[in-house]
Amino acid sequence: MFRTRWLWLMCAVLATADCGGAVLGADAAAANSAHAPTKLSFRYRVPQPTHYTDWPAIRSRFSTDPALTARVRKIVASMSLAQKIGQMTQAEIKSITPAQVRKYYIGSVLNGGGSWPGGNKHASIGDWLALADAYYDASMATDAAVKVPIIWGTDAVHGDNNVFGATLFPHNIGLGAAHDPALIEAIGAATARAVRATGIEWAFAPTLAVAQNARWGRTYESFSSEGPLVRAYARAYVTGLQGSFGDHNVMATAKHFIGDGATDHGIDQGNATVSRADMINVHGAGYFGAIAAGAQSVMASYSSWDDVADGVDYGKMSGARALLTGALKDKMGFDGFVVSDWNAIGQLPGCTNASCPQAINAGIDMVMVPDDWKAFIANTTRQVRDGEIPLARIDDAVSRIIRAKLRMGLFGTRPSQRAGAGDASALQDRALARRAVRESLVLLKNNRQALPLKAGMKILVVGKSADSLPDQVGGWSLTWQGTDNTNADFPHGETILAALRAADGAANVTYSATAQGIDLAPFDAIVAVIGEAPYAETRGDILPSATLRHSDRYPEDLAVLQTVAKGHKPVVTVFVAGRPLYVNRLLNLSDAFVAAWLPGTEGAGVTDVLFAAKSAAGRYNFRGTLARPWPGVPCPDAGAGNAKARPWLFAPGYGLRYPGQHAIGTLPTYPAVHACASAAQATAADANALSERSAGAPVRRSRPLPAHNRLDAL
Ligand code: BGC
Ligand code: BGC
Repeated sequence: MFRTRWLWLMCAVLATADCGGAVLGADAAAANSAHAPTKLSFRYRVPQPTHYTDWPAIRSRFSTDPALTARVRKIVASMSLAQKIGQMTQAEIKSITPAQVRKYYIGSVLNGGGSWPGGNKHASIGDWLALADAYYDASMATDAAVKVPIIWGTDAVHGDNNVFGATLFPHNIGLGAAHDPALIEAIGAATARAVRATGIEWAFAPTLAVAQNARWGRTYESFSSEGPLVRAYARAYVTGLQGSFGDHNVMATAKHFIGDGATDHGIDQGNATVSRADMINVHGAGYFGAIAAGAQSVMASYSSWDDVADGVDYGKMSGARALLTGALKDKMGFDGFVVSDWNAIGQLPGCTNASCPQAINAGIDMVMVPDDWKAFIANTTRQVRDGEIPLARIDDAVSRIIRAKLRMGLFGTRPSQRAGAGDASALQDRALARRAVRESLVLLKNNRQALPLKAGMKILVVGKSADSLPDQVGGWSLTWQGTDNTNADFPHGETILAALRAADGAANVTYSATAQGIDLAPFDAIVAVIGEAPYAETRGDILPSATLRHSDRYPEDLAVLQTVAKGHKPVVTVFVAGRPLYVNRLLNLSDAFVAAWLPGTEGAGVTDVLFAAKSAAGRYNFRGTLARPWPGVPCPDAGAGNAKARPWLFAPGYGLRYPGQHAIGTLPTYPAVHACASAAQATAADANALSERSAGAPVRRSRPLPAHNRLDAL
């Protein structure tokens, strides 16, 4: 039985196995003892890991309300089949006009990543609001007996990230390192305010993946590799977004149900082979928190689950009746609605993007069918008439959607009439985002007391990411991949370079991306800002054959550190990346090393702690700690190439503060390891990875160790 009372435990951060569950075993912990971290003094609360043997019943904050049930029943009884199927259809704004919304009784629209009103990346808040009004007006102008307002969904996954001028918060991986549920609730609330100001009522967030393998291109969307923290955050995030469904709140989406972070080799949209106990207790943890907080929608994952131990192959989630209906709705008691992912139905055997009775019968209530919505409606209508989809299933789906819309109070007001609509200041919460950055940074190394820096020092800033808001904000930022952006696309953002100039005095800071030809003698310290270029989803995957060595993908980052190391000045590296990567050579070349994750638009959150800036409460210091392990070998997930090395350099919970007396010695660099499997194994594993992917452009494999974004390049 699910315990309604949470068992909280207070745990010091450099903790033991109790602290959030998966902490390293004795072996790996011993491997870390050479550089034992300083203990932090702050405390956080996470629930205990669970040990359910079946899907638990979760008590939602919404109790059953007979008056609401009666109202829903009455509305559904008044609807025609066309109105019902329209209600279950979610189309993309590029592919549907308000007139079509009216004609086809469409229940929802979305804007995908990189889709804005009028196709204008710099669309104003007024443009968003005008389009929201147009769709709303269309939904209220149908000939239905009871007009059901449309709901618009958007991927506001780190702030209102599709909207020009919005503050972008750190991606979830950074928030995980902050270990601060109250911060997460505040970010949820700020995001909801921003989204609602544009007239949109639904955020496809939070992602509750408990990502196990950093090869996965969506690792940065995951708070932690440990279920209990994801559970606490799910509850906080949903509470922040949905609040009590006032004009400043939006509907939340718990995604992607279930096991998106469990796939073999971290392959996006791949297959998980985890045990049932792990699927429930590790990968289900976020859903316990989200449902308790009253999340009204759940998005089904593209991925599959083959429970090999029990001999049950569930297949792709969008078709898995035992999970969507059996586990989520019947056992866990989720009474919101399930939405499928972008064209996900087309991936089920026997289905296309425009036809999939299996998905609806499995428990999908709303179908994200961005482009082929018209054919989808025609096909689904025929399938209901032919008895392939029972009418009772349609009625249940529509009831769930309408119940959520009623709970949200959507009936009655136009988007532009709601409080806060069009308020451009709602897009900004720079102070909150800056605090989130400060809290999320993890200090991995600080030899020779390289940190904190002192204002007035002569500093040379190097590295390709120092003056790059695109690198800082990562994927899901104005564009889907986060590519094709420049600093000018984030007019209120501050690069780490700009923040360094502000903190140290512009005259004291010199910038050179490569450091080539720079005389290092005049400088007191070097700050290198390096890391990953933006990516999203599958395009961020690192194939099974490739190492997790950062410099295999970004040799320029190694080169710049080698160049500045020659000056024998303190080198402080700020690593801007969506995941923990194998960086031993970069650590060896740095005196201090900061994991900054993908911090978003507020570079000053980084300099606050680099310089120990003053706050009302004293001086800032680092307080983030790892929410997932950090690799100490190029292939932490493979036997080959690792020799007898232990895979992890730093355990979850690791993170330094200054001043500290610890020093990290020279770490092994495994120069011979440039692949994570033998050529034959690699070819088989990569081929499998590629075939797991959704249908798309045909993929060819041209070289054994393809570079970053290789899937595009092939
Ligand atoms: C992603 C979802 C996202 C959806 C809509 C999909 O590709 O997997 O996380 O919400 O697109 O943009
Ligand atoms: C959309 C994304 C979506 C993706 C799915 C893109 O074109 O912009 O929102 O997640 O396709 O493949």
